[in-house]
Amino acid sequence: MAITYDEAKRLFCLTTRNTEYQIKINDIGIPVHAYYGRRIGGSDMSRQLAQADRGFSGNPYECRLDRGLSLDTMPQEYTGANVGDMRVSALELSGIGGSMSCDLRYAGHDIRHGKYTLKGLPYVREKSGAGDKTDTLEITLTDTIAQIEVRLLYGVFEDKDVITRTALIRNTGTEKIVLNKAASMCIDFPYADLDLIHFHGRHCMERQFERTAIGHDCISVGSRRGMSSHHNNPFVILADRNTTENCGDAYGFMLMYSGNHRAETEKDFLDSTRLVMGINDANFCWHLEPGEEFTAPEVIMTYTREGLNRLSGNYHRIIRENVIDGKYFDIKRSVLINNWEATYFDFNTEKILRLADEAHALGIDMLVLDDGWFGKRNDDNTGLGDWFVNEEKLPGGLKVIADEVNKRGMKFGLWFEPEMVNEDSELYRAHPDWALADPGRKPMLSRNQMVLDMSREDVRDYLFDSISRVLGSANIEYVKWDFNRSVANFFSHKLPAERQGELGHRFVLGTYELLDRLLKAFPKLMIEGCAGGGGRFDAGMLFYCPQIWTSDNTDPIARLKIQSGTSYGYPPCTMGAHVSASPNHQTRRGTDINTRSIVAQSGTFGYELDLSSISDEDKNEIRKQIDDFRKYDKLTRNGDYYRLNGSGSGDGFTCWEFVSTDRNEALVSIVVTDTEANAKFPYVRLRGLDEDSIYSIEGTDTEFTGAALMYGGFVFGELMLSDRYYKDEYPSMQVHFVRKDI
Ligand code: DGJ
Repeated sequence: MAITYDEAKRLFCLTTRNTEYQIKINDIGIPVHAYYGRRIGGSDMSRQLAQADRGFSGNPYECRLDRGLSLDTMPQEYTGANVGDMRVSALELSGIGGSMSCDLRYAGHDIRHGKYTLKGLPYVREKSGAGDKTDTLEITLTDTIAQIEVRLLYGVFEDKDVITRTALIRNTGTEKIVLNKAASMCIDFPYADLDLIHFHGRHCMERQFERTAIGHDCISVGSRRGMSSHHNNPFVILADRNTTENCGDAYGFMLMYSGNHRAETEKDFLDSTRLVMGINDANFCWHLEPGEEFTAPEVIMTYTREGLNRLSGNYHRIIRENVIDGKYFDIKRSVLINNWEATYFDFNTEKILRLADEAHALGIDMLVLDDGWFGKRNDDNTGLGDWFVNEEKLPGGLKVIADEVNKRGMKFGLWFEPEMVNEDSELYRAHPDWALADPGRKPMLSRNQMVLDMSREDVRDYLFDSISRVLGSANIEYVKWDFNRSVANFFSHKLPAERQGELGHRFVLGTYELLDRLLKAFPKLMIEGCAGGGGRFDAGMLFYCPQIWTSDNTDPIARLKIQSGTSYGYPPCTMGAHVSASPNHQTRRGTDINTRSIVAQSGTFGYELDLSSISDEDKNEIRKQIDDFRKYDKLTRNGDYYRLNGSGSGDGFTCWEFVSTDRNEALVSIVVTDTEANAKFPYVRLRGLDEDSIYSIEGTDTEFTGAALMYGGFVFGELMLSDRYYKDEYPSMQVHFVRKDI
């Protein structure tokens, strides 16, 4: 059992292979956060948390004579509000008689085998079969005056160094309670000097690494866009000041949620750092009638003392094995051609089948028909919501195309944007009240489209029926599920006035429900998530969609930063990545087709360009690239991934490595991003190899020990000297190392 409880000390110990997490129920029943870090053998760390009388930090009534005990200076697992802890809180409410106070105290606990699940929300699954050792701790807290109960859930994945957390909040009284904030978790670090690492960005430049020293202030990182967003990912790292890619303490916190979110850090007057994470309280409130319960989304936590690469590795593993549906784990990924950057809206059946022919001749195995096949959609102003085929464009419907594509031995996939509607659509004309808009106010438009009210059952039923009809009309094995604007005008025509603050969360629950329903109805379907590129790249969506389009920016040089930033939390096998045209449509940068391919091969590989416009030489390269991708498929899908030079290294190149889990092979890829005359050769140290084994570079006699490659390092001299790699100012290459002595 990974969870123990020492009754005498009232101490919970959650232990994983390399980490330990301690919670102490103190004398007044507060669950104190006692420790999170490397394993320490169960020594009660709460002894170190002695408090003293601090000016202006008041005392709970029962310790008024003691004065040393204050909620304001106590490290806590979850906090109420308005009863003496002046720091950022986890739960805020308006309760009986309008009281905003909530003072939560221990009422009991339960320790059980297996991992808890959540209803209506994604969660980290216990791997079916004998795969995982998991346990659950449930601590119940109550405030008998506010008549509220909070159940803190902890799921321990012993072998994976992962602990999940969430909070279930229940009205145990007879009057309504309004939650104004209901975070998933709170944690305090009394003695650490931490940096906050988070991933900000914009459309076409998602998940940029940023590292900030946490000072004596509050930092808030989040989204109010109704989606997890391009702008701030629901994933943060707290790292020791000296932590690097390969060593040092790092704590990860990833919210499994696709809507408004917020991570707040605050360093208090005693230098203790608090992190609170959960649904963003902006525009949020939730009504709890007597007996009702609110479930906060889950946070996936991990800790390592081995730096950011190890932290990423822990996330990659848990996402691959326990977040993504197991049915996708071992399937080979299809190399796809998407028609978006090849044709945009300008296509018909003939053009699409020509693309299929060209793709087939190169060895591509799936064609994905993107935006524009439905309603009257010939540009991005009309038709969203009308999920029936445009027969003028595609006579005979999708079946004709799917059958023809299948005849060529390829699969067929299709684009949808279910949660959106255009004003100019049959759907909007029939149901204007299905779109989010405040009464009497014109809604904000973005890409000239509005957002459907996913909290409504009738909207979800319409979407389920119309999408199912399309999916049933032809052999469609893959769906790209897009979402092309931020949400505003949070107002539902169906919800009562006092419940409008619930809309943001109900919207996300509605989307999850629809995804779940469709996947159950079409169990062989694979859905790729997308939101104007990577605007909804989060663990919540990955629960339903094993891969997500990483960015609308397909330029390989920009993608290096985007994919590297994404890799801190998410494994490469989840990142949609395509080879597109040169010059690139977003940046106008020209790059060699092999550089484009090397970058795209570190994701779910595909092509997105007009294949009829490229040279025979490039076509030959594509054939080789597809062979390479298939050869390395398992390695890049399930292998360990390392950033060999970290974010912002200023090296002028980006280098990364995949190592197979048995350490028998490694694939190292490098792209020079900043070419200089008379430059020194790029140099890296490999990771993850077996020190004592001999590795050779495939196809050569060059041999090294694993130790030589990891501690002596590897110099990319040939890359800089040979015209083979130096096709333009971004020379790139892949080196495949193979273990010899096995
Ligand atoms: C945004 C997506 O990210 C693109 O790949 C493409 O599908 C367009 N939407 C279509 O409108």
